[in-house]
Amino acid sequence: LEPMRIYLDHNATTPLDARVRAAVVACLDRLHGNPSSVHQEGRLARDAVESARRAVAAMLGGAPQEVVFTSGGTEADVLGVVGLARSARTAGARPVVVLAAIEHPAVHGAALALRREGFDLAEVAVDRAGRVDPDDFAAKCRSGAAVAAVALANHELGTIQDIGRLGQIAHESGVAVHCDAVQAAGKLDLAVASLGADAVAISAHKLRGPKGAGALWVHPGRSVEALIGGGHQERELRPGTENLPGIVGFGVAAELIGESLAAQPRVAALRDRLQQGVVAMGARVHGAGASRVANTLSAAFPGVSGEIITTALDLAGIAASTGAACSSGSIKPSPVLLALGLTRAEAAEGVRFSLGVDTTDADIEAVLAALPTIVDRGRRHG
Ligand SMILES: Cc1ncc(COP(=O)(O)O)c(C=O)c1O
Repeated sequence: LEPMRIYLDHNATTPLDARVRAAVVACLDRLHGNPSSVHQEGRLARDAVESARRAVAAMLGGAPQEVVFTSGGTEADVLGVVGLARSARTAGARPVVVLAAIEHPAVHGAALALRREGFDLAEVAVDRAGRVDPDDFAAKCRSGAAVAAVALANHELGTIQDIGRLGQIAHESGVAVHCDAVQAAGKLDLAVASLGADAVAISAHKLRGPKGAGALWVHPGRSVEALIGGGHQERELRPGTENLPGIVGFGVAAELIGESLAAQPRVAALRDRLQQGVVAMGARVHGAGASRVANTLSAAFPGVSGEIITTALDLAGIAASTGAACSSGSIKPSPVLLALGLTRAEAAEGVRFSLGVDTTDADIEAVLAALPTIVDRGRRHG
């Protein structure tokens, strides 16, 4: 990054922690064994994988043997949704996937893949603040389904869902629950064993770890079908030689999670200051009526597209986003904002600011100082 840039896109990815980097570099330099080899080099590599697994399990509040390493949040989501669904269908469940209308493309894509193999999709409505409608969710689960997928914290709004309650509703109808906790880890203290889900997905690069490493926690009483065959690794749920540096970095990031959790009240105060400032400029805020993770602010400046605002912010040295990273660059309005009941024109105005543990008061003041001119110019020229 150039000096002086302000990075407010931590929901897309976070910068690597220096201690994580040091561990990844040391692993690349020193651990060249294959974790499946039985000689000393192999055993050292295996120890590193298992030590990272213990750290990730401790962060999640689960047991190490319940953690499956994947290539990231996307693969963890697909393994959870597709793996639970196929396994439940084999056991006689109705081939239906229940999912919240605001799920991340990783979960949505998994559901679409299941549709190609004969599953039906049942999308659950959310209210204006992005909360899953429990009655609609219950009705869809009662009609019979193999899996229900609901994210703990939404990637665009930060809205937190009551997974305990939704999980109970789904389980009463015998439906397995996948929970995407990619945007919750590091912001909420996770306790997967009592969360109410059967599978929970997380990703290292959202918590100052390396890109390309993630994990799926699987409830010990549930079975998940592997997406691919090919090897014995990760209990045959994720065959292939492990991404050792990525896993080692993930483990160190998990060990440091207490620091992120401790910083959340300060991050919330900065987000609230930013929110107050943009509201004073006439902005709309999405999801503020629900409880949200501390770092996320979804806003809109009426009459100016989110694309224009984020492009101008970028030129001014400030990184923000129009929504999920994977959908920016396309002119399609955010499906999350459309699901809240916004019009296409309103949804196209969305701007997501996502703060990190390294965000400072000065960063927020600089953004608030830059915005009025950017918004005003956008209104006149947009
Ligand atoms: C809620 C959510 N789920 C899943 C993912 C995918 O994670 P990854 O980038 O590690 O594949 C993301 C990342 O944007 C996310 O925000």
